[in-house]
Amino acid sequence: VAPLKVGIAGLGTVGAEVVRLIEQQSRTLSSRCGRPVRVVAVTARSKAKKRGLDLQGIDWSKNPLELASDPRIDCFVELMGGAGEPALSAIDTALKAGKSVVTANKALIAKHGLKLAKAAEQFGGALNFEAAVGAAIPIVKTLREGLAGTSVNRVYGILNGTCNYILTRMEQEGLSFAECLKDAQRLGYAEANPSFDVDGHDTAQKLAILASLAFGTKVSQSAVYVEGISSIAPEDLRAAADLGFRVKLLGVAVRTAKGIEQRVHPTMVPKTSSIAQVMGVTNAVTIDGEGIPPITLVGPGAGGAATASAVVADIADVARGIRALPFGRPVERLRAIAKAPMERH
Ligand code: NDP
Ligand code: HSE
Repeated sequence: VAPLKVGIAGLGTVGAEVVRLIEQQSRTLSSRCGRPVRVVAVTARSKAKKRGLDLQGIDWSKNPLELASDPRIDCFVELMGGAGEPALSAIDTALKAGKSVVTANKALIAKHGLKLAKAAEQFGGALNFEAAVGAAIPIVKTLREGLAGTSVNRVYGILNGTCNYILTRMEQEGLSFAECLKDAQRLGYAEANPSFDVDGHDTAQKLAILASLAFGTKVSQSAVYVEGISSIAPEDLRAAADLGFRVKLLGVAVRTAKGIEQRVHPTMVPKTSSIAQVMGVTNAVTIDGEGIPPITLVGPGAGGAATASAVVADIADVARGIRALPFGRPVERLRAIAKAPMERH
């Protein structure tokens, strides 16, 4: 059987783990997909950088665009990051060549997801972005496929591993915000620009994607009210604890009579609540669906290995020939957001 030939742009925290995981799990993948999955070409900014990877037998493309249009590859995997170039043109090029694309890039999907989904529909490739939200947690598939027959009223949770890691260590160890952020960066949890994490934008991008999947609205980061955690100090967390609360950065998208309200902000949650037990880099997402009790998914929300797990699952879907509509319905069926005013809670 012909292997699925994969090209990977970006060999950083996530990309390097994806190369390792495909190699490590090659027999399992081959048996689960009914065909081998093979990395045939890669690229990154620096060819000389030591990455601890065995790239023997794998070609090095000059740049992401060359890789995206390489006729030998069936699936282009974008793990460079950034809402603009070169990720945007590379993905667009791959889709327009009829290839499937896998990406973990929430910034790009939140900004250009519709345009790219349209190209995927038109040219017949898949556009898979499970790793863009909640890293290893299969939340995109849960909303898109698992709950295709359920009307969702609310989706909310802890969507940023870096922020939850910082809040946890500040509370438990009394460390400063800056020390905790440094560790989150060292562990590969934070974005290249960590203000995306701590100022709430990363959570807003993820929430906008989840809201689109849950409510069939157009993805729009600008529809999200955003407040981050950068002004929170250990004494704020102690004051909350004295009152029986913990502080969590939550993303909430909820159907209201006036439209879909989307917001991200630090929230005091009772210490005894289940969301208060979610500590460290862990993420948790709860879906309130019509006529069913809430569903909560909990798991590692950042880091190379956790994210690679979702990226490789998306690649496996491509190998199996599964091609979901990226946002769960044709792009033309996505509705404009009726922006609800922020309710005060
Ligand atoms: P890194 O910064 O660790 O890696 C980025 C990689 O992309 C590097 O290998 C870099 O090359 C390469 N790259 C950057 N710009 C270019 C360019 N212009 N041309 C070619 N290669 C380029 O990022 P991460 O691995 O952490 O993140 C990658 C993506 O995954 C992002 O979209 C991020 O939001 C997303 N993500 C990350 C998670 C995490 O926990 N880290 C979790 C979920 C999603 P070089 O190595 O030579 O500098
Ligand atoms: N920087 C992100 C986080 C990576 O900390 O959650 C996972 O999307």
